[in-house]
Amino acid sequence: MSDRYPPGPPNDSFGTRHLAAMRDDLMGFCLRLQRRYGDVSRFRLGPFDCYHLTHPDHVHEVLVEKARSFRKPTRLKHVFGRFEGQGLVVSDGELWLRQRRLVQPAFLPAQMADFVEPITKLTREMLQQWGDATTIDFAAEMRRLTLRIVARTLFSTSVDDAVEQLGEAVDVIQRWSMREMNRVMPWPTWLPLFGQPRVRAALAFVDSLVRRIIRERRASPTRGADLLSQLLNAVDAEGNGRGMSDRQLRDEMVTLLLAGHETSAAALTWSGWMLATHAIEQDRIADDVRSVLGERPAEFADLPQVAPVERAFKESLRLFPPVYFLSREAAEPVQIAGFKIAPKSQVFLNPYLTQRDARWFPEPERFDPQRFTPECEHDRPACAWFPFGAGPRACVGRSLAMLEGTLVITAILHLFRLEPAAGQGEPTPEWQLSLHPQGGLRLSVHCR
Ligand code: HEM
Repeated sequence: MSDRYPPGPPNDSFGTRHLAAMRDDLMGFCLRLQRRYGDVSRFRLGPFDCYHLTHPDHVHEVLVEKARSFRKPTRLKHVFGRFEGQGLVVSDGELWLRQRRLVQPAFLPAQMADFVEPITKLTREMLQQWGDATTIDFAAEMRRLTLRIVARTLFSTSVDDAVEQLGEAVDVIQRWSMREMNRVMPWPTWLPLFGQPRVRAALAFVDSLVRRIIRERRASPTRGADLLSQLLNAVDAEGNGRGMSDRQLRDEMVTLLLAGHETSAAALTWSGWMLATHAIEQDRIADDVRSVLGERPAEFADLPQVAPVERAFKESLRLFPPVYFLSREAAEPVQIAGFKIAPKSQVFLNPYLTQRDARWFPEPERFDPQRFTPECEHDRPACAWFPFGAGPRACVGRSLAMLEGTLVITAILHLFRLEPAAGQGEPTPEWQLSLHPQGGLRLSVHCR
């Protein structure tokens, strides 16, 4: 194995300078690394040796070819494990593999047909509240809608009455998680969420809601068209032939709820902004939608015909990937890009920078959905576009997220034209748990 290290900025004694720089301006820091040192760089962050990788081939090495040499970072496990227990996002090894085998079939594209009707219905309910030529906080609308959709696809109708409170609890949890990820010293794991009454209350609420739903469903096992039913009936055919314990089921449901809500809301919000600021493209897509659907709502069979909507959604995910940073911890000595990476080193992948690189996307700042025709996609390196990650740990909810993105945009453009509201300038990206426009997004909506 090579013992060469990649170049990088000089270390200060505890690596706190880089930590401060990252906290002040995360992408500025990463961009400087890439400009000065290239696709692979190394720097110190507190006690950790860190690597920043931006070349698609190196991303592929980490996430796909050598995925077994990496695990989820300890810090991430501590923070998210507080809420998600041993769910898919934080587990590793045998437990992760078994759970992934149990959860994945519920998201197979063939299962998605059941969700078309509820997603379209919930979107239309939202659109009925929009008046002609009114200004809305599009980001808030998308947050509410995606929460309703994720709750509906996970548990059917059982949480309709609790959806507002659930939204608040999820917000509190996400904000706390982000703060914790940014702290120099993490909240010790042995310390309960002491002194954090709002976080404790939010967790207690989500926990009791999910446990109650699982209990009720176990007591009267109806086979509903939702993910909970699929997970309740899943058995590990390749392993011990058993299903999930209630504890594990709770952890996976909370994981799916948290992983599937903010990310989808962010993706839809940025798509709305892209379409609002590209009127010609927006009208062209809307014409396509109307010619396919006429006056009726979209059905599963329409999806291939509304491919231009899917391409616009993918292009928005390129420019504004909700998960803008992926991290891994080396579990053993491993070589990436010909450089040595020692165990416990932290590896950062950066979809935001990779997806705005002119080598893979000429004129990278330009919004151009045509980049996602099958021919263009085929001509790019595999991990030049990876908003859902890649390899064995790629997003398990990808098919649901793509379905949701396509259907929600289809329903909006079918009925409304989007424009930036008066006074709404270019939004500033906010590097939260997922990438959001700072301060929301105000759009004005006009009936078509
Ligand atoms: C546009 C929306 C979404 C985006 C951009 C997104 C992005 C991602 C990414 C990048 C990862 C991999 C993280 C890593 O490798 O460290 C991931 C993992 C995951 N996502 Fe998504 N996601 C989205 C929607 C969803 C939805 C709707 C669900 C479920 C309802 C979901 C559930 C998960 C889960 C459980 C994992 C962990 C998978 C594993 O480690 O085995 N995501 N997501």
